[in-house]
Amino acid sequence: MESKENIKLELLKKYEIKDMKDWKGVNADLIITDPPFGIEFSGKNGNYHRNSDNVVSGYVEWKVSEYSERIKQLLKTIKDNLKQSGQALIFSGWNNSNLIHNEIMKFEGLTLRGKMYWTYNFAPACKLRPAHNVYEIFWITKDGGWHYNNRCSTHHCTEGEPNLTTLKFIRDYKMNMPKYPTRLPFKLLKCLLEHFSDKEDLIFDPLSGSGMVGVVASMLDRDFLIGDLNENGKIVFEHLIEYYFNKNGLMQDKKITDFWKKKNGY
Ligand SMILES: C[S@@+](CC[C@H](N)C(=O)[O-])C[C@H]1O[C@@H](n2cnc3c(N)ncnc32)[C@H](O)[C@@H]1O
Repeated sequence: MESKENIKLELLKKYEIKDMKDWKGVNADLIITDPPFGIEFSGKNGNYHRNSDNVVSGYVEWKVSEYSERIKQLLKTIKDNLKQSGQALIFSGWNNSNLIHNEIMKFEGLTLRGKMYWTYNFAPACKLRPAHNVYEIFWITKDGGWHYNNRCSTHHCTEGEPNLTTLKFIRDYKMNMPKYPTRLPFKLLKCLLEHFSDKEDLIFDPLSGSGMVGVVASMLDRDFLIGDLNENGKIVFEHLIEYYFNKNGLMQDKKITDFWKKKNGY
C-alpha cells in the first residue's frame, strides 16, 4: 500500500504554478474555475469583516479595465483544454457577471447551457447594505456529448426536491491553518462534481487558489490538474491535503460547520 507521504507527493505534483494561458491539451472532462472578482480584491483587507490573520498573500487580482480580455483568455484556455464532450462551470460574483455572460455568448466554440446560483453565509457580517451572498455559476459545454447525473449525495439532493438552479451551501471556515481568500467549500464542490462528472474523470482548474477543486476531486476518486500564479496557493493546498486526509481534521470541520449552522439558522 502506498504511504501517506507518497500519496501527498503525487497530489502536490498535480498543482502547477502556472499562468492559465500556458496550459495546452489537458483534455479535461470537467473544468470548474472561479476567476478573480475584478474589484481590487485582496482578501487581506476589510472585505470579510473578520480577522485576516493567517490569510495568505499573493492573490493575483484582475483590473476592471482588463477584465474582458482576461475572460476571453480564460474562455480560450477552457476551449483548448476541454474534451469535445466536456463541460465547464465558471463562478462569478454579481459585479462582472453581465460581462462574463456577454463574452461567453460572443465566444465561438463554447455554448452557454444555463446558470446556477450558489447562496452562502456571508450576510450576517454585512450590516451597512444589502448583502450579495450569491455567486452565479455559468454552465458551458463544447459539443453535444455531455451528460450529468441528476442525483448527488449531499443535502442538495438527499433533503427535499433536487434543484439544480439554487445551491445552498455554507462556507466551511478552517481554524489554525493558512487561509486562502475565496476558497470554495467542500460540499458545494462535492455536489457539483457528483452532478457533472463521473469517477476517474479528469477535472481541471487553471485558477485554483487553494486547490480545493483538486482536493475534492481526489477524495471523490476523480483525477485532477490544477494551477495558479500564486505560490502560496500551493502551500494552502498542502495544508488542505493534510487536513482532509486526516480524521481529526474532519472532526474539527464538523465543529466549525455546526457553529455556523447554529449562528446562521441553517
Ligand atoms: C477566486 S480565486 C480562486 C479560488 C479557488 N477557487 C479556491 O477554492 O481557493 C482566483 C485565483 O486566480 C488566480 N489567478 C489570477 N490570474 C491568474 C492567471 N493568469 N493564471 C493563473 N492564476 C491566476 C489568483 O491568484 C487567484 O488565486
